[in-house]
Formats: sequence, structure tokens, C-alpha cells
Amino acid sequence: MSALAFPHTETARRVSDAERARILTDPGFGLWYTDFMAHARWTIDEGWGASEIVPFGPLQLSPASAVLHYGQEVFEGLKAFRHADGSVWTFRPELNAERLQRSARRLALPELPVADFLTSLTALVAADEPWVPVPTGEQALYLRPFMFASEEFLGVRAAHVVDYYVIASPAGNYFPRGVQPLVVWIADQYSRAGAGGTGAAKCGGNYASSLLAKDEAAEHGADEVMFLDSETRSSIDELSGMNVFAITADDRILTPALTGSILEGVTRGSILQLAADRGLEPVEQRLVLSEVLDQISSGEITELFACGTAAVINPIGTLRAHGGSWTVGDGGSGETTLALREELTGIQYGRVADRHGWLTRLV
Ligand code: COI
Repeated sequence: MSALAFPHTETARRVSDAERARILTDPGFGLWYTDFMAHARWTIDEGWGASEIVPFGPLQLSPASAVLHYGQEVFEGLKAFRHADGSVWTFRPELNAERLQRSARRLALPELPVADFLTSLTALVAADEPWVPVPTGEQALYLRPFMFASEEFLGVRAAHVVDYYVIASPAGNYFPRGVQPLVVWIADQYSRAGAGGTGAAKCGGNYASSLLAKDEAAEHGADEVMFLDSETRSSIDELSGMNVFAITADDRILTPALTGSILEGVTRGSILQLAADRGLEPVEQRLVLSEVLDQISSGEITELFACGTAAVINPIGTLRAHGGSWTVGDGGSGETTLALREELTGIQYGRVADRHGWLTRLV
């Protein structure tokens, strides 16, 4: 049972019907925001208290809010999909709720109960229902729950006041070029996370530390950056906001094991299941970069792809590094990669039977 109700009292819309319709024709990713947002506050004395759906808008924060100084913040990403009958669904939200709790624990933030997380999504999507695109391609309403230390305090300790919000943003493809083979730059100088650090948590700091390497990737004509383990710089961790998979000619699907420095992606876990369903052997292990590059050159690895909630599944056509460039297969989009993508999105949009019970109805 959810203790928080997220009541919706102020219902005036911020954006006109005509403007919203214009935005939904080609939303891009992360550019537009809906009429409302969900909010709840936690204090050390009262626990989780007032919750509500309020108009989307700027937050009033003290410049001394702890998050602005020490980065005590965690977030999530999931999507609301409109089905052909008009109903609106989301995908495995309890996994996001549990991951938010794990991330919060690591960042010394309070854990939001799973039921309250689910209520915040349902309440926000009910208020913002007209913002859920009728998909002509793969548009959805991207939901971004986040939690941060809002206490006005400059001492270094876990905050005593924390705010939780969910904002929503209509989204099309994450990559501006659409579902095209990516060029991925292998970072040899920067790490995303170290042993005992926050790599497995979904916290802003991990993404902040990836930005310089992303800029370096762009300077080398790449779309994304691949991080290696920080200790030996010899095995593959993940991309800047995505997990990574390889498919072999002998029908194995490989992905880095969860070592504590890799995000446990909901899409990652779902792909391991869908791949096994279609007869591929899932292998979660240490992926040694030099071996992967050799196997790409020999044709043993036939496909490579990136995955995440925002990115869905996106083929990788080329790996690039200071030492050279490696073309995966023929450099195009792999057949199995696209088949997995089709099946995953088919389930999410209600075109393919939800045989694992992964969907939760929101509206
Ligand atoms: C997501 O996939 O939802 C993320 O949070 C990753 C980010 C690159 C948008």
C-alpha cells in the first residue's frame, strides 16, 4: 500500500493543446516537459511527508542546498507507452523502484517505498495523460524520477531534508541520427567508476564524470564513449549511459558481469531474458577488451550493441581508439540486434504478447 497519495489539485495546463500537438510530432530527446510534476519531501524527523502533483516549473533552492555542493543525488529513467487502444503502460517499474532504493542507500539518501514510487508515476501520468504520444514511430513519455539533498547546510554529512520529484518529457529517438550503427570511442584515459565507488548507483556524479570523455569521443567523430575498468583498463564496463552487449557467431550473447561498477540496467536484464528465449546462450562475464577486438577482427563476434531505457537497443558499427579502428561485422545494424529491438519494443507498445508479465498499466 502506498502511504503517499500525490493528490492533484491545481489542474490548469501550462502548454496549449496546439503547442503540445506540435511538440509531439517530433519531440527529440530531453527537450520538452509536460504540464505537471510529482513531488514529495522527506525529513529526518518526519520521514516521507507531503506529496502532490504540482505544475512543472523552476524549483526554489537555497544556494547552500547540499546537493549543489556535494552532489548527493540519484535518479531513474523509465517510459510510458501508449497502446493501440489508448491505454498507457510502463515497463518493469518495480525494478526502477528497487534500483532507486539501492542508489539512494549508496548515496546516503532515504529509500522511497516501492509502492510510493509506483503511485508517483501513476499520479503524474494520469495528470499528464495528453502528453503520452500516440506512437507513429517509437515515441513515448520519458519519466525521470530523481531525489536530492535539499537541506541548507554546508557541513559534510547525509542531508536531513531531501526532495523527490518526477518530471516527464515526450521522447523520440535518443540518438539524433535514429537507429543507426554507432561509432564508439574507447576511453583510455578516463574512468567512469572505481572499486567501492558509485558505479552501480544511478547518480548524477557518474554521468558528470563521463562528460569529458564524451567530448573526447566527439572530437574523434564518435557518438558514444566506452569505459574500461578503472583498475586494469583492460575490460569493458559500459558506455556513458548504456550497457553494452556482443553477439557471437556461435549464438552466445555476452555482456560485462555486474562487478559493482556497472549499472544494473532494466533493459540489460530484459535482453538477457529475451535472448535466452530465442535460443542464445547468455554469458555475463569479464569482457577483456583485447579479446573482444580480436574476436571482432576474426568475425567471431558478429554484432555489438548498446542498450538502455532511453537508447532502447542501438547497434554499434565501429569501435575506435587511439590505436586503431574496428568494424563490427559489415559495420551495419546486426540482424539479431534488430530482432531483439523489435521484440522488446513490441512488448512495450503492446504489439507482442507480454509473456513475462513486464507491463504495468498506468492509465
Ligand atoms: C536512461 O536510459 O533512462 C538513462 O537514464 C540514461 C541517460 C543516457 C538518458
